[in-house]
Amino acid sequence: MKKQLFALLFALLPVTAMAAGGGLPYSMEPDLHDQASLQNGMKLYVNYCMGCHSLEHQRFSRAAEDLDIPQALVEDNLVFSPDLAFNDQMHNAMQADDGENWFGAPPPDLTMESRLRGPDWIYSYLLSFYRDDSQSTGVNNAVFELVAMPNVLEPLQGVQERICAATDEPVEGQSPDPLTGKYQSCDVLRVTQPGEMEPDEFEDAVYDLTNFLAYVGEPSKLKAQALAPKVLLFIFILGIICYFLKREYWRDIH
Ligand code: HEC
Repeated sequence: MKKQLFALLFALLPVTAMAAGGGLPYSMEPDLHDQASLQNGMKLYVNYCMGCHSLEHQRFSRAAEDLDIPQALVEDNLVFSPDLAFNDQMHNAMQADDGENWFGAPPPDLTMESRLRGPDWIYSYLLSFYRDDSQSTGVNNAVFELVAMPNVLEPLQGVQERICAATDEPVEGQSPDPLTGKYQSCDVLRVTQPGEMEPDEFEDAVYDLTNFLAYVGEPSKLKAQALAPKVLLFIFILGIICYFLKREYWRDIH
């Protein structure tokens, strides 16, 4: 039995290793206990993303409860459409056909996006838009080549461009400059016209947005984590009771 259990454990290992992914320019660690970050993420999502991307499997009311946002505040500030109510799923009015006609690709529902692509990918994607005048949207993306989505966060981030510059990131087939230790790359993304936010402020905002999408992908995780210590305590106490019960049963036999 033990052997089989070990075999199962090893069989699962590559799956987790693969899920971690690689080759992305940025990484982030979601923090589902950071209520302020999740609340800000939800605010940004509703303001900048929901017009195109629904969250079909997430209700406003559930998010409000989990993120500790009062109902009135959600109704006044986050439920924009007159067709939507507090208990509704986070739908939008866009039809898939329209999305496809307007952008060339339908904006997908993002409820499961953090499970599908992983938070590192979403975080990197949102930070990797750069100006490309050959595209109809005026932008391209270093993580998602020829993406059909416009850079909707540009007012906050500013205009980011792909330039040639020295970088700390190793470049394939190149040895570092002996004096500076840096590499020369033409894939460096840099904000050339500032937006409303400083680059580190913008990274924080994108962190919150990604954190919110990580929560949406697994809304029960918050509750499960809160419940875990209680379950362990219960099993521990049950174990003690069972032990004394066993002693009681066996006393007459020995
Ligand atoms: C104006 C409409 C529009 C808005 C607003 C918008 N997107 Fe998109 N988004 C798209 C389209 C269209 C695609 C599909 C791109 C493609 O397949 O080329 C997309 C794709 C994506 C993807 C990749 C999906 C995948 O796995 O293929 C993510 C992640 C994403 N958007 C996140 C966001 C976030 C976060 C916001 C808010 C900051 C946002 N989007 C706002 C139109 C939009």
